[in-house]
Amino acid sequence: MLKQVSAVKELLHVSTAPSSAVCREDEQKRVFDFCKACIEQEKAGSLYVCGCPGTGKSLSMEKVKQCLVDWAKEAGFQPPDVLTMNCSSLTKTSEIFNKVMEKNQPGKKVNGSTSPLKHLQNLYSQQPKSLGSKMMLIIADELDYLITKDCAVLYDLFMLTTFPFSRCILIGVANAIDLADRFLPRLKSLNCKPMVITFRAYSKDQILRILQERLMAVPHTVFHPQALELCARKVAAASGDMRKALCVCRSAIEILEAELRESTSILTSDKELSQQKTAPTCIITIENDIVRIDHMAVALSKAFRSPTVDTIQSLPQHQQMILCAAVKFFRGGKKDTTVGELNKSYMEICKSTIIPPVGILEFLSMCRVLADQGLLKLGQSRDVKLKRVTLKVDEADITFALQGVRVFRNCLQ
Ligand SMILES: Nc1ncnc2c1ncn2[C@@H]1O[C@H](COP(=O)(O)OP(=O)(O)OP(=O)(O)O)[C@@H](O)[C@H]1O
Ligand SMILES: [Mg+2]
Repeated sequence: MLKQVSAVKELLHVSTAPSSAVCREDEQKRVFDFCKACIEQEKAGSLYVCGCPGTGKSLSMEKVKQCLVDWAKEAGFQPPDVLTMNCSSLTKTSEIFNKVMEKNQPGKKVNGSTSPLKHLQNLYSQQPKSLGSKMMLIIADELDYLITKDCAVLYDLFMLTTFPFSRCILIGVANAIDLADRFLPRLKSLNCKPMVITFRAYSKDQILRILQERLMAVPHTVFHPQALELCARKVAAASGDMRKALCVCRSAIEILEAELRESTSILTSDKELSQQKTAPTCIITIENDIVRIDHMAVALSKAFRSPTVDTIQSLPQHQQMILCAAVKFFRGGKKDTTVGELNKSYMEICKSTIIPPVGILEFLSMCRVLADQGLLKLGQSRDVKLKRVTLKVDEADITFALQGVRVFRNCLQ
């Protein structure tokens, strides 16, 4: 079992390329269609792809690149030369033009007085000597690394696509969304208008689907569905970064691995004991072999320690129960409620956990404490039960903070 679990860990490694990039079909299609049109019309063009970290930009560009080359071959077009670069690996920003030159005319030495940029500008200003010269797809990932004080390299790079005989299809991929605001207007004034495609942060459902899709390659269940759901919920609320979700899942597997190793050694020592005393040995059930919600909660807490989570975890039990009641109540879709309604939800939790409830006045004073800590917001009303209550923290933070507490686990599921 340990071996199988470790294989899944590999599968979820950030450097393991998944077979497809689900939930990014639309973005990939837009990039693909753009490149396809450039090839069909033998026309240069530029694209600017931006989005927060871990939103599948690099992965999607890889997939588009493969599809484009396959499509060109099938459709009878000359497949483009492809230059994929991570700009963070360039020794200096202008080296990017050397790379384009090298791809364009491999092995050709540029005359000492002409810079690679100048050479490319000259090249794309003149009618090509041979007919049907190849298009070149340039994927410049981590474009942010080309930002300099005057952004000259960035402008020169995009401007290459505006020369009359340019063959470049440029895709600049950047993390900083505000980069677009800073440099696009200037590019536009130079009559270069790259199409912009924004990759939004993944939602909870998308993260869940991507994880499920990646795990399809495994023939057995490794994660309890609620464990995956918790991971997706928390990561989506924090950043929507898929890299983070994958790291947390791997970390949860490691926690399970440690537990399995421990139980195997207990089992072995039990066996030795049973041989001596013929006492019954403990049996590991299937449930013990999968990542449960409590493993995930620990993994998440390692990844996302936050002051809010710390505060919630250090609250007295009844205050935690009030937050738990609020989460349950607001899951129905409502944004606010009254103290009276919240109290009813709290009483239900008390009933299901067989913990005696506190009276309404004490309940209200605990709500006030929670409001003072910035966890709840209490409205004004003379009638205690009619005071309005809203949650001031993310539901995911509460679920996450209380998930490790057995009493609350069932309530929150
Ligand atoms: N739709 C998806 N399906 C499967 N895996 C995904 C998907 N999106 C992202 N991933 C995985 O998440 C990790 C991060 O994705 P990727 O490197 O493409 O993000 P990025 O947007 O380029 O991030 P950055 O801005 O930091 O470069 C990778 O391991 C990738 O395989
Ligand atoms: Mg990337």
